[in-house]
Amino acid sequence: MAIERTFSIVKPDAVAKNVIGQIYARFESAGLKIVASKMVHLSKEKAEGFYAEHKERPFFNDLVAFMTSGPVMVQVLEGENAIKANREIMGATNPAEAARGTLRADFANSIDENAVHGSDAPESAAREISYFFSDEEICARTR
Ligand code: TYD
Ligand code: MG
Repeated sequence: MAIERTFSIVKPDAVAKNVIGQIYARFESAGLKIVASKMVHLSKEKAEGFYAEHKERPFFNDLVAFMTSGPVMVQVLEGENAIKANREIMGATNPAEAARGTLRADFANSIDENAVHGSDAPESAAREISYFFSDEEICARTR
């Protein structure tokens, strides 16, 4: 399996709980390397564009309101099978259904305030990474 990159967000609920470091430690323990990272407070337009695929869903407006309610950490994770590995660390969208020891089981409040985002496929990973980071902002981790 080749080295892959995925896009991740520590959402406003988890930033408010002050568990950014605990979440980053889970990535590192799973062998995922942080190759880009920043804190941002999303505008309504930025959040709407990010979640454009969900525009017609009934939860869309609440999702955008939540994602703009406070700062988030956005990061690029790199490693073997990074997209699937990160989704496994995250757990199911609904924390009530998330496996024990996953980020959402441990840190999410509810299905709509669920602590983390992770890309679900190579195409979405590429789109989401470039939505937040230029090539110059992503570092090579060769040592
Ligand atoms: P989705 O892409 O289905 O989940 P995931 O984040 O696991 O890829 O949905 C995107 C986000 O939309 C989800 O993380 C939280 C929000 N959401 C709700 O608020 N209510 C819902 O019923 C669903 C399905 C999602
Ligand atoms: Mg999704």
